[in-house]
Amino acid sequence: MRAVLSLLIKEGVLFEDRILCDVSAGVGDYTLSYARHFKWVLHCDLSVDALCYALARSRRMGLQNVFFLRVDYFALPFRRSVDRLLCLDTLIRGEDHEGALLNQIKRAISSEGRAIVDFHHWWHNPLRRLGLLQQNFGTNRSYTRSGAEGLMRECGIRDQRLVRFYQELEAPFFKGLSWLLPATRLLYEFGCADSGDAPPASAGASSTTSQPNPSKAARSAEQVSNAPSLSAA
Ligand SMILES: C[S@@+](CC[C@H](N)C(=O)[O-])C[C@H]1O[C@@H](n2cnc3c(N)ncnc32)[C@H](O)[C@@H]1O
Repeated sequence: MRAVLSLLIKEGVLFEDRILCDVSAGVGDYTLSYARHFKWVLHCDLSVDALCYALARSRRMGLQNVFFLRVDYFALPFRRSVDRLLCLDTLIRGEDHEGALLNQIKRAISSEGRAIVDFHHWWHNPLRRLGLLQQNFGTNRSYTRSGAEGLMRECGIRDQRLVRFYQELEAPFFKGLSWLLPATRLLYEFGCADSGDAPPASAGASSTTSQPNPSKAARSAEQVSNAPSLSAA
């Protein structure tokens, strides 16, 4: 969690007027922890149970700036308007799934925006991957670094920055051991400018936006949150 936050909150940069959007936010471990750093947080998920659970948590925490949106990440209602976008523990269903989702993410972030995504690292537990120990990953897909980066390249994402993330080593005491172990996750940060994704000619006339305008993303989120299937804090 600290590793992701340090990517989101760059030293010396204030995000109090920015929007954070998590496109598969689940029960809100990231959105609710980071809400105080951002003006608005868009907590998106398809699961009504996850949304209701996260909404109840946010009420208990007294958060006022989180919108809970029932959104399919294959049809994100944002176009070049999100300042910081998270998609964690989700690129795990196979290349077609990951490719379609990465394309949506790429289109959602603003020209100054950054996305943070992760892949499960194939080398994290090679004995299980090679079948020498019982595998406990279910059907989840994991990637080598070249596999993950090849996939991003196919989606037109360039200049991504890799951060090796060691879930087990978040405690400072264990940090020195990281060179011994393969990373748990391959965590990447990338921007819209890196992707070469040009805005569609008609974007200005659509309900989403082609401009880096944070308030438009919040407004479109407010409109979506008025839809019957959605709830807001
Ligand atoms: C493994 S959880 C990850 C939750 C969170 N990102 C985390 O790291 O703790 C994946 C989440 O994706 C959501 N999800 C699955 N398919 C989705 C879709 N098509 N659109 C939006 N969310 C979806 C699930 O409901 C679930 O909450």
